[in-house]
Amino acid sequence: MRILKTVLATLAINLGVVIATAGGIIYSGVYNVAATNAHWPITHWVLTQTVHRSIERQAANIAAPALGAEQQLLAGAANFEAMCSDCHAPPGQGPSVAARGMYPKPPGQAHAAHEKTASEIFWVIKHGIKASGMPAWGPTHSDDEIWAMTAFVTQMPDLSAADYRHMLASAQAHGIGHDHDHDSDAHKHGAQAQPDTHDDAEPRTTRHDDGDTPHDHAAHDTHAHS
Ligand code: HEC
Repeated sequence: MRILKTVLATLAINLGVVIATAGGIIYSGVYNVAATNAHWPITHWVLTQTVHRSIERQAANIAAPALGAEQQLLAGAANFEAMCSDCHAPPGQGPSVAARGMYPKPPGQAHAAHEKTASEIFWVIKHGIKASGMPAWGPTHSDDEIWAMTAFVTQMPDLSAADYRHMLASAQAHGIGHDHDHDSDAHKHGAQAQPDTHDDAEPRTTRHDDGDTPHDHAAHDTHAHS
């Protein structure tokens, strides 16, 4: 009995010390939250393994539909350009200015295409990843739209910058792909008495030409390596 009491007392003291130290670190502000300050290797390992294993487990029961039909890929490309390319470099292009300053950095999609199953990619796009910058698109997009982006992501390693441009042009020509960003713009304009919000959505090419996106696609294309 006495031994048990001693062991319990020691554990309680140790726990108290751990809690006090953690509290001290939190309240003193010594922990540097800067995105420019990399994690220790052990912290990095713990976090990446946690993310990796969690995605594997969460996606285990998701059955992927048939992927790769042309229309689906075009829709995926158009939505990738509208919603993902600010963070994930499109085919044949380097990361955006914002992506270069993020921590964790948004991985190139070739990584996902090689390392993740379609169901895992779908799950990540739908649910996002906590405290990483990767948003959840499920609250605002249908499963069909998310599978289309999944299909596109799985094909990305095989696409050149020119292939990507052709896909975007083709999607636009056929009116494929739904740009929710433009919708929210349209709603804002709608508040200024523009009755038909859908006609208000200008063609997506203007996003490139007027230079209001962080990517200078033409400049990146000169570095294309595929
Ligand atoms: C605001 C930046 C941002 C946007 C926008 C964004 N992502 Fe991400 N994404 C990230 C970050 C950061 C990670 C890495 C998270 C981690 O590893 O903890 C990530 C991870 C991923 C992964 C897992 C990659 C891998 O190799 O493990 C996939 C797949 C992905 N994103 C797809 C998309 C798609 C598709 C879109 C558009 C619908 C998108 N992302 C939009 C920042 C972003």
